Amino acid sequence: MNISIQNIKPESLVLKYGTPLYLYDAAVIDRQIERMRNAFKGLPHRINYAAKALTNIAVLRHMKSRGLGLDVVSVNELRLGLECGFEPDEILFTSNSITMQEVKEAVELGVNVNIDSLSLLERFGEAYRGAKPCSIRLKLDPLIESHTKSAEWHKFSKFGIHHSKIGRVAEISRKYDLKIVGLHVHNSSAFLDVPVYLATADAMFEIAKKFNGLKFIDFGGGITIPFQPDEKAIDVDNLGEKLTQKTNSFYREYGERPEIWFEPGRFLVSECGWLLTRVTVIKENEKALFAGTDTGFNHLLRPALYGSWHEIVNLSNPTGKKRRYHITGNMCETDFLAHNRELSEIREGDLLAVKNAGAYGSCMASNYNSRVRPAEVMIRGGKAYLIKKKETYEDLLRNQVEVDW
Ligand code: LLP
Repeated sequence: MNISIQNIKPESLVLKYGTPLYLYDAAVIDRQIERMRNAFKGLPHRINYAAKALTNIAVLRHMKSRGLGLDVVSVNELRLGLECGFEPDEILFTSNSITMQEVKEAVELGVNVNIDSLSLLERFGEAYRGAKPCSIRLKLDPLIESHTKSAEWHKFSKFGIHHSKIGRVAEISRKYDLKIVGLHVHNSSAFLDVPVYLATADAMFEIAKKFNGLKFIDFGGGITIPFQPDEKAIDVDNLGEKLTQKTNSFYREYGERPEIWFEPGRFLVSECGWLLTRVTVIKENEKALFAGTDTGFNHLLRPALYGSWHEIVNLSNPTGKKRRYHITGNMCETDFLAHNRELSEIREGDLLAVKNAGAYGSCMASNYNSRVRPAEVMIRGGKAYLIKKKETYEDLLRNQVEVDW
């Protein structure tokens, strides 16, 4: 069992920075970047890291240093990207219910905007005509529904311009002489198998043939990683091989070779992150054994919000006798990190690591119950760097306005 990261013991960091603590391993990010590059090496491709998954600027800078581009979904994410050295043409701003004001800010910052509604496309056309390029975010689910039940909810998804409206996209772009340089889809945040991904690619390539001069076709994020030990995850090498064949036949028909873009979030940063938490109390009632911790859904929302399963390891007693626990948080309401989980015996004061906490962990944390958000540390090149300070009581007051009633 891996209980140290690049030979650094989590205990030593916890002594310095306290618990809870988010801990990231840059070597795992690098491994995942390499896996992806290798899988898609046969394609002219670009990997845009989905900044929303883990938005710390040290992580963004790390991605930049590895030659990745950036996928952003708000003007502030975009500004963080620029701050971290990404060039405007290395960033794609994907819109979702955004105002024209935000579009203008993004365009002024020199970034390509990915448009996800016909009405925004009209407004973009009125504002820029052909002077600024844009790309189109599509919604394709009915084309792939026969392949998967999990695509079902996507029928109700708010994202993108429905593929049946592609004629309107063409009309609007003719009306304003728009330059559409890319097509984009983010069909799922958990692609589980290659055929579903390839069905999406087929649908995208069919639509792409209706557009001239595309510079890129962007398949979004959604390549997942296994959370449970026996969980199925997409085989990226197999995906890369099959997608390369499909893309090459598309290139032959299309006559040009638009780049293939990907926007991984979870695939790159989920496994790099551990949330370290101290066990504050052990309680037993007639029904269950509880290990209460000093964190909760205020720091890692995924188990409470999505029922997500995160591996938990007792770092203080990794080989202890196995017992079943409910691992709870300290929020003053129902707050579980794990239900009925078999773990090495837990004692009060033990240090637990909640794994796969890199993606959508710290960035979804809150100050609920007026608890502060934890510090974040990244281990890179065998050295531990503090990349975010633990919040303080003063931070809780910072934006509150004292009114003298
Ligand atoms: N591109 C776009 C346009 C997206 O909306 C997303 C994620 C991504 C890329 C990256 O997707 P990924 O590769 O990470 O699946 N909070 C949820 C996940 C929400 C994902 C939203 N969009 C969770 O914790 O599972």
